[in-house]
Amino acid sequence: MSKVFITRKIPEAGAKLLKEKGCEVDISAKDGVLTKEELMFALRGKKYDAVLCLLTDKIDGDVFESAGSQCKIFANFAVGFDNIDLATAKEKGILITNTPGVLTETVAEHTFALVLAIAHRIAESDRFTRNGKYVGWQPMLFLGTDVSRKTLGIVGLGRIGSRVAYHAGKGFEMKILYYDPKPNPAFEKEFGARFVDLETLLKESDFISIHVPLLPETRHLIGENQLKMMKKNAYLINTSRGPIIDEKALVQALKENWIRGAALDVYENEPALAPGLAELDNVILTSHIASATEETRAKMSELAATNIIEALEGRMPPNLVK
Ligand code: GLV
Repeated sequence: MSKVFITRKIPEAGAKLLKEKGCEVDISAKDGVLTKEELMFALRGKKYDAVLCLLTDKIDGDVFESAGSQCKIFANFAVGFDNIDLATAKEKGILITNTPGVLTETVAEHTFALVLAIAHRIAESDRFTRNGKYVGWQPMLFLGTDVSRKTLGIVGLGRIGSRVAYHAGKGFEMKILYYDPKPNPAFEKEFGARFVDLETLLKESDFISIHVPLLPETRHLIGENQLKMMKKNAYLINTSRGPIIDEKALVQALKENWIRGAALDVYENEPALAPGLAELDNVILTSHIASATEETRAKMSELAATNIIEALEGRMPPNLVK
C-alpha cells in the first residue's frame, strides 16, 4: 500500500481519491503551516511514497532527504511552484507537479474583481459606509474611474493572463497590450491586442495586470523605475507572486501618487505587508485568495491527487513541472 502525506488540511476530494486508489493518507494535524523542521520531522522515517504540499511549504534538499529515497513525487497544491527547489528535485529524480488549468477562470475572475473594485473604489466606500460616515448621496462622493474601453496591459500571457484578456476584451471592450517572452498572433487577432515591450506597456496602459511566474528574472520586474513610467492615473493589479513587485517602491508610489492605485492579492514577504501599505486608501489588499472558491480548491485537490496516483502507478503525471 502506498503512503501519502498531505502537509495541511485541504478540501477532501484529493484524499478521497487517493484512498479510493488504496493509498494510506496521513494529513498534518497542525492547524497552520508546518515549519521546515516540523515538515522534516513529519516525513523522517515514515517512508512516504508521495507528498502533497502547499505553496507555503518550502521544499528543498533537506526536505527531500527527510522524505527518503522511496518518495517519488511532491505534488504542489498550486499552479506556482517557486516554493520548490526544482534543480535538487531533478538531481534526486523526484517528480514535481502543480495544478494548472483548473484555477484559470477563478484567478481571472478575482483579477477582474480587483480591477473593478479599485476603479470603483469599492473597498474605500465600504469602509466609509460601515463606519457610519455615509450621510446621503453626494455628487462628488468617491469618484472613481471607468474601466470600459480603457487600455489593459497584461504582463505574462499564459492561461490566466489570456483569460483576463477575455473578460477585458469581450466584456469591457478594453484595448489590450501584452508583454510576454513570445508573441501570440492568434491572440492578437482575436482580441485586437498589441505585443509590446514592457516599457511601452507601462507607459500606455490604464490598468496593468501581472501574470508571470516568480523566477530570478521576474523578481522586482516592477520596481521604482517601472512605477515611474506608469501613467499617473493608472492602476497596478497583482494576482501572481508578491516579489514580482518591489513592494517598498510601490508604497512610495502610492503615497506620492506616481500612480492612482493598486490591488494586490500577493505580497513580497507574505503574510507580512510592507510598512505603510495597509494604511493607504488607494490600494486593495486581499489575502492570497485568487483561486479560493469551493469548486476550484476541490479541483486543485483532486488534480494534485491525480498527479500522485499517476506517478505511483508508474505513469507520467499530467502536470509535471520541468
Ligand atoms: C496560488 O497562488 C497558486 O499558485 O496556485
